Amino acid sequence: MRDFNQNKTPFFTKLKEFGMSHAAPFDVPGHKLGRIENDLQKFVGKKMYLLDSNAPVGLDHLSCPTGVIAEAQNLMAEAMGADRSYFLTNGTTTGILAMVLSVCKANDKIILPRNVHKSVINGLILSGAMPIFIKPNIDELIGIANDVSFDEVKKAIDENTDAKAIFIINPTYFGVVSDLKRITDYAHLHNLVVMVDEAHGAQFYFSHKLPYSAMEVGADISATSMHKTAGSLTQSSIILTQGNRIDHQQLRASLNMLQSTSPSSLLMASLDVARKTMYFQGKTKINNVLKLAKIAREKLKNVPGISVIDKDYLLNQGCYDYDETKLMVKVSDLGLSGFDVYQIMKKNYNIQLELAESHIILCVLTIGTTKQDLERLVLALKKLAEKYHKLKDKLPKIEFRYQFPDPYARPRDAYHAPKHLVKLEDAVDEISAESIMIYPPGIPIIIPGEIITEAVVRDIKFYKEKGGALQSDIDNDTDIDYVQIVDKENWIKYEGDLI
Ligand SMILES: Cc1ncc(COP(=O)(O)O)c(C=O)c1O
Repeated sequence: MRDFNQNKTPFFTKLKEFGMSHAAPFDVPGHKLGRIENDLQKFVGKKMYLLDSNAPVGLDHLSCPTGVIAEAQNLMAEAMGADRSYFLTNGTTTGILAMVLSVCKANDKIILPRNVHKSVINGLILSGAMPIFIKPNIDELIGIANDVSFDEVKKAIDENTDAKAIFIINPTYFGVVSDLKRITDYAHLHNLVVMVDEAHGAQFYFSHKLPYSAMEVGADISATSMHKTAGSLTQSSIILTQGNRIDHQQLRASLNMLQSTSPSSLLMASLDVARKTMYFQGKTKINNVLKLAKIAREKLKNVPGISVIDKDYLLNQGCYDYDETKLMVKVSDLGLSGFDVYQIMKKNYNIQLELAESHIILCVLTIGTTKQDLERLVLALKKLAEKYHKLKDKLPKIEFRYQFPDPYARPRDAYHAPKHLVKLEDAVDEISAESIMIYPPGIPIIIPGEIITEAVVRDIKFYKEKGGALQSDIDNDTDIDYVQIVDKENWIKYEGDLI
């Protein structure tokens, strides 16, 4: 029988008991419950090490949970309105890989927006699934990709009635959501599995003042970063499922293929306690943060040179809904890019922002955000605007056109193809064999199998020049002087092959 007492923290409680039990440890980890000294141990204290166990007696196994991990997962599922939950100790990245891998076999079609996180592209490579990309709504003025419209989704489903699954982001990094309920209902009519990326949406499960969560609208499976917005430790995430469209043996097999056999007990304990806190206090604390966000937006509204990108603006642009715990500010009218402001805020004001794009900066507000910190942010932005607003006519105008290139081959085909490096300038019209992105947000500018256009080269150069944090998945060349392309001469395209 399931015990739904949300006051309990079965895994954390047992872990604490073990840590304090004075057991003689002849198992790993080798720090032996903190019986060594090193700089980290001196800084954080012995207690953290007492809670870092591998799988001692009584603490269950994440790969096949039947004890306290199973109990903690059941409580998580109940708190989130799901049938089942799975703890993840390598972030939503692993959750997304496992979702895609467990639902799609090679060449199965999956419908998805192109502005997905790189883990989804890697899921396509691992599974061999065939992406059917939908163009997201693009806001040219602020240079970001937003939600997908129901009509675009419907068109993709109608044209691909043999598709296996649809993948939706709820919300995007910037906080925009699609009409997930309508999309889910339509996808289910056509027997598609609805998978959701809720890396930035854990808070939706604890407040009715935020957009709908995946489980609320009937989606089948979601990967949710509790660590990003619900207070658990970095890398701790969950998978949530409901209904009968998910094959749990296949999902378990995928998770056990991808996850470590030594999952971090600290991360699992942090999930257990974050769930309890959010269950009892989430609603009140989210209400509070929404109030603070509103005050900050009001204070920033009339500051010359900057514009708050709020819900009214986004709804006017045709977005379906918005998560107001995100605070987005357009700064490019100051003659500065978001990347410039990101650096200035840290250097001059010791304020760490979440991310920058060409035109905007993004702040993520959570139950941990304080009034004092928001006041510091508002003051710093006011000072910055005052200084640069006077100079703005002397600074170059920031321009950026958002686009995505055309696909040529399955990401997996290009990933396995023979390849070589060429200079960025020489890569036009070639097929990319790698993903290149700004990180964060980690939405690839180009993915394996897409054709590198002049626009792609121009965008990469633009980011380089503006100080965008470019990343390649294959080496440390953050300047992206070279790109890896498919060696067409030696490439036999495996068209139609079931690999
Ligand atoms: C939209 C989106 N999906 C998935 C992920 C991966 O999540 P995690 O960092 O928990 O692995 C991220 C990370 O930033 C993300 O932005």
